[in-house]
Amino acid sequence: MNNFWLSLSTDIYFGKGQVNVIGKLLKKAGAEKVLLAYGHGSIKKNNVYQNIVKELESYSISFIELSGIDPNPRITTVRKGAEICKSNNIDFIIAAGAGSVIDCCKAIAAARYYNGDPWDFFTRKASIKKALPLCAVLTLAATGSEMNGGTVITNEKTKEKLSTGSLKIKPRFSILDPAYTFTVPKDQTAAGIADIMSHVFEQYFSYPESTILDHLSEAVLKTVIKYGPIAIEKPYDYEARSQIMWSGTIALNGLLGTGKDGDWATHLIEHEISAKYDITHGVGLAILTPHWMRKVLNNDNVERFAQYGRNVWGIEKKDLLETAEEAIDKTAYFFKSIGIPDKLSKLGIDDSMFEEMAESCLKYNKIGRFKNLDRDDITEIYRNSL
Ligand code: NZQ
Ligand code: ZN
Repeated sequence: MNNFWLSLSTDIYFGKGQVNVIGKLLKKAGAEKVLLAYGHGSIKKNNVYQNIVKELESYSISFIELSGIDPNPRITTVRKGAEICKSNNIDFIIAAGAGSVIDCCKAIAAARYYNGDPWDFFTRKASIKKALPLCAVLTLAATGSEMNGGTVITNEKTKEKLSTGSLKIKPRFSILDPAYTFTVPKDQTAAGIADIMSHVFEQYFSYPESTILDHLSEAVLKTVIKYGPIAIEKPYDYEARSQIMWSGTIALNGLLGTGKDGDWATHLIEHEISAKYDITHGVGLAILTPHWMRKVLNNDNVERFAQYGRNVWGIEKKDLLETAEEAIDKTAYFFKSIGIPDKLSKLGIDDSMFEEMAESCLKYNKIGRFKNLDRDDITEIYRNSL
């Protein structure tokens, strides 16, 4: 195992009614004027908004709202949010929503103290030096953004979707009430499950191998494979929503990547698609993942894929390659069985931009630490996913 440093600094308040701690925690943090940020209104339909406002009012904390944060959040909204924070002396941000809202708030928190354009953080022209404190009230299990320092933002003008990260934008605390995810529609629930699984894959299929992390990763995969279909069938099943919610956080809070060089190729390849076509991140991942797996599978890593097949899917074949291939087929079938389209063409995507997207994937970095991918490899993955 490589040396590592891990900080799980975000306090997690998990369970029914945990939103009731918000007022007290904000007071303790000295918050007086808060930015309450959210998306397109789902939080008003399931009482999340009302519960937060009640808390703020009962602790006499004033707030200003920023609504309308889009899925695949835009840099223009980050600029707007930063201006609101500057001109209103905001001292704390509440991100009430899913990954897009949380990511947007993280970028706003950093942009508040930056005099240049916040897109600089994403193109590596600037690093985050200071940020407003923020907390998250999570409403969809998927990204893990509620307990990590990452943010992914889309520049709608350049059609780029890029990420950056800093400990400074990690939520101070996050409220994880599984009941808040009861209203997540089936397609978003399924996309979230695919995202969670992909986060595990990106770290499981990486070097150096680690027995402890293999066991933890396989446990997360088995948990969402078990409870995902239940949550889709019975959206109000608290236990299923709980298991998935906590799995989503564990999948990307740093733990499963400790001492490893995560691969992250599938994510970078997907981000190009959601940048150009504004699709749901988890859907793109579900379509690409089996094709990424088939592309990178070789004699050197066949045992890793076979282990995944044995331990996660219970495949008991003697032949390593057959086990690996069946595991990949089962992965593709699982995504299809929870209702995710299995081809990019089903999302209205054609091959006209594949070369450009492959080029763009490689603009800032090499891709694939488990197996390095060049422009032709990436284009082939896109084509096979069509
Ligand atoms: O806009 P609202 O009304 O909130 O509706 C949202 C949105 O339409 C809806 N929704 C959320 N909670 C709901 C709900 N609808 C009903 N009931 C609820 N309880 O779901 C839709 C999708 O929301 P979004 O925030 O886009 O979903 P997700 O959490 O999957 O976030 C995806 C974004 O996160 C980025 C992705 O690239 C994408 O931009 N990622 C962030 C990461 C990170 N920060 O660590 C890592 C990930 O790999 C990922 O790249
Ligand atoms: Zn993801």
